[in-house]
Amino acid sequence: MKKVLKIFVAIVLLIFIAIQFYQPAPNVDKGQVYKTDFIKTYKTMPVEVKTLLQTSCYNCHSNNTNYEWYDYIQPARSLVDKHIKDAKEDLNFNEWAAYSGRKQERLINSIKKQIETKKMPMSSYTLMHKNAKLSDQQIKLITDWLEKQE
Ligand code: HEC
Repeated sequence: MKKVLKIFVAIVLLIFIAIQFYQPAPNVDKGQVYKTDFIKTYKTMPVEVKTLLQTSCYNCHSNNTNYEWYDYIQPARSLVDKHIKDAKEDLNFNEWAAYSGRKQERLINSIKKQIETKKMPMSSYTLMHKNAKLSDQQIKLITDWLEKQE
């Protein structure tokens, strides 16, 4: 029985090592500047709100992710990439000004709702990325500002 267990552990380990070789192109844009960016669009956005959005949302909802070393470890890497792909399909902050007025209006409401109900940033993400977690005070700061944009 002990031998079977050893073989099993060895197989699991080999699979773990093998999947590390799967590293698709990361979501990084090497400092590209976007004229259509959300933060640029709203000139009066307070610095605090900017910083919070950048730390808590931009890693998934933009063309540039600041990966942590552990984000490169599979299968976490694939999970993160899947989240980024889905997140950008719904909302890419870099492309904000290119969205239609109707889409922006819908998204402003949606952003507010997601933050208020603590659905965003995703809890599976804040578990590892503690700095992305928003306090009640920070949530209020962002949502108060969003309200003024409606
Ligand atoms: C770990 C990655 C990640 C982070 C960080 C993140 N999101 Fe998301 N977000 C997603 C994913 C994935 C979806 C798509 C959810 C789905 O398809 O069910 C999404 C969806 C959304 C939507 C829904 C868009 C729509 O169509 O209505 C909004 C709004 C949103 N996120 C806002 C935010 C905001 C604001 C932050 C920061 C406070 C944030 N997200 C942080 C991954 C993320």
